[in-house]
Amino acid sequence: MTAFIPARVAQRRWVNPSVLELVLEAHDSTVLPAAAAGAHIDLDLGNGLVRQYSLVDPAPTGAQRYRIGVKVQSDGRGGSRRVAEQLLEGGPITVGTPRNLFPLEIQTQRPVVLVAGGIGITPIHAMASALLRTPGTAWQLHYAFSCREAAYFPSTWLHDDARVSLYESHPAQGSGKALDLQALVDLAVAQGGADIYCCGPSGLMEALARCCEGRPGIRYVQESFEAPDLSDGSETAFDVTLARSGRTIRVAADRSILEALREAGVGVPSSCEQGICGACETPVLAGTPLHRDAILSPGEQAAARSMMICCSRASTPALTLDL
Ligand code: FES
Repeated sequence: MTAFIPARVAQRRWVNPSVLELVLEAHDSTVLPAAAAGAHIDLDLGNGLVRQYSLVDPAPTGAQRYRIGVKVQSDGRGGSRRVAEQLLEGGPITVGTPRNLFPLEIQTQRPVVLVAGGIGITPIHAMASALLRTPGTAWQLHYAFSCREAAYFPSTWLHDDARVSLYESHPAQGSGKALDLQALVDLAVAQGGADIYCCGPSGLMEALARCCEGRPGIRYVQESFEAPDLSDGSETAFDVTLARSGRTIRVAADRSILEALREAGVGVPSSCEQGICGACETPVLAGTPLHRDAILSPGEQAAARSMMICCSRASTPALTLDL
């Protein structure tokens, strides 16, 4: 379950017209919780709006600061715009403890291929940094972006480390260089296999997943942006009791618990509303959840101590939640 920490914006910097880099520190300057490569934090932007951002350089033993890169999208769902407008240097922000849904496995005998597209460089940079710090690892990073002026380079070594390849599809001058995913996977297979990690636009991740499918020695991992659709049309209504107020709210077959609570005037933090971020994780006190998220492990789902109320339902007639 994500806990929230009062923090403040220690530094704020536009690295280009569309990417804002923020450095956050604990409100009382204490050490922030540890995080491993691939981890993200939630930012509570107020009015129930919570957004996730990957840590650019997480520290496995705890850190004085968290650094994130935010792609500010005027046509997005409003989260990045609110970050740009509200998170001013020195200002407060509530930060969730790190979660890692995209963990890096480091084994010295197994090569790692990292693939980033656009702002997907943020967790991939964290992974490359961890590999840089680990002697004896074999790795390479392929970073694709439209043009250098709009790309985010969290570290200067991205420009000149021989293990890093940059692909600029629409350079300001000259012709672009395309990332050949098929060739990249073919080479990894020919060299005995690899773990391939990818974060970027869904088209890039889907294309790479297709190239990796069924290939010998390849393990493919991508940052989840969508949960699998597990609804089967057999959803039924059930009751949810809120333990702290004693209220019982009916959840109709065509409504999520989150929607039913909202309609009843009960505010609960949420973000993705598709079971991939953890913002709406809620402790379960009684009843059995029907889990439909992409976050909890099979063991955590079986333990049924908490559930994502944006997508999961009940397999018993009633649930009691710690709300
Ligand atoms: Fe993201 Fe529920 S809102 S998991």
